[in-house]
Amino acid sequence: MEKLLVEELEAELKDLSPDQGLKLVANNYGRRAKFSTSFGLEDQVITHLIASQSLPIEVFTLDTGRLFQETYDVFDLTRQKYGLSIFPYFPNQNSIEAMISRKGPNSFYESVENRKECCFIRKVEPLQRALKGASVWITGLRADQSASRGGVPLVAWDDQYQLIKYSPIVHWSLEEVDLFIAKHSVPVNSLHRKGFPSIGCAPCTRAILPGEDLRAGRWWWESTNKECGLHEHKEKPLVAQRDIL
Ligand code: ADX
Ligand code: SF4
Repeated sequence: MEKLLVEELEAELKDLSPDQGLKLVANNYGRRAKFSTSFGLEDQVITHLIASQSLPIEVFTLDTGRLFQETYDVFDLTRQKYGLSIFPYFPNQNSIEAMISRKGPNSFYESVENRKECCFIRKVEPLQRALKGASVWITGLRADQSASRGGVPLVAWDDQYQLIKYSPIVHWSLEEVDLFIAKHSVPVNSLHRKGFPSIGCAPCTRAILPGEDLRAGRWWWESTNKECGLHEHKEKPLVAQRDIL
């Protein structure tokens, strides 16, 4: 069943531009299609495409409580420019209070285990709540953001959240993103100009040096698997599904 759904949607979407693809998804799924934005460059492109076509897709963000002020500034600018309601999901109050009272506010620097616990409480569990009732999760992932994202497909079945995951600009280059943003005067996070291509929580993001990987500034003190659990890459691309069946 899930294979059929993904296969049908993939066949419909693969020759469409992102604006056409988002329109098709909105027509088919309405508010059961939900878009998660962290207000990064890619997400701002998708927000523009959703808002400029007045698509009924629900837009939400995960407010970890540790974001940069610059991220809140672009959040505000985006709401105002597009007249868009963007729902903020916060961490569960009991979980965050328990973690900080046990381990302090900076436990993520102490071990990978602590870091993953913090990401789970501040991001993954709120995402699970945000995606309740959704059939399609729209993200701003791009394949060339890092080596580990190289195989991210346009459409996939996401085992973790049990829904279809659609990344409309997965095959865009950073140059295409930049061109789109300049052409349409899309508001962006001012930190991008200061050497931050990828922006997450303030204590876990630094600027990158020339030549470094685009995600080198995320959890920079760790050396492997720089992911927070939102995107575990357990998605099943169609080829893999065909192999299994
Ligand atoms: S992360 O997993 O390392 O944090 P990244 O910042 O590259 O992810 O963003 C990839 C996609 O994950 C974004 O396009 C967005 O869909 C989703 N995402 C990441 N962080 C958030 C957030 N705080 N709120 C909502 N969506 C997010
Ligand atoms: Fe916590 Fe850092 Fe993960 Fe944000 S990125 S949820 S502060 S560990």
